[in-house]
Amino acid sequence: MAGTQTFTMIKPDAVRNGHIGAILDKICTAGFRIRAMKYIRMSPEQAGAFYEVHKERPFYGELVEFMSSGPIVAAILEKDNAVEDFRTLIGATNPAEAADGTIRKLYASSIGENAVHGSDSDQNAIIESDFHFSKLERF
Ligand code: CMP
Repeated sequence: MAGTQTFTMIKPDAVRNGHIGAILDKICTAGFRIRAMKYIRMSPEQAGAFYEVHKERPFYGELVEFMSSGPIVAAILEKDNAVEDFRTLIGATNPAEAADGTIRKLYASSIGENAVHGSDSDQNAIIESDFHFSKLERF
């Protein structure tokens, strides 16, 4: 059975461009409930650890530099079928391929600076949520 939680980050590009409010509105309007949320800036070490799974990819250095370049909004979201429904809401990783009306189509500029992160599996949703939030920070 599909899980009911996913993890997201509103990335530094979307924060810099003033899209936090619009993106949160789309998330809530789509029926996701916010279980946890924080506004933080990751250090390069933290961003590197978060994206450790991509360590061997050619874009890893660029990804770590970008994700630590400014504040982000991290959140745990709850809804039936959360991971898949959230990935539908945000659209393809590359905004050029994202469907009309999706968050990345509306607010992302490139595959690297793509406005939002969404977990790609229930297992990674748990790992990523645990990376950023303690039990006491969840409601
Ligand atoms: P995200 O969903 O946060 O997970 C991994 C990130 O790596 C992805 O979004 C993209 O921002 C980034 N990424 C994936 N492919 C590339 C690429 N070819 N060049 C730069 N960044 C990439």
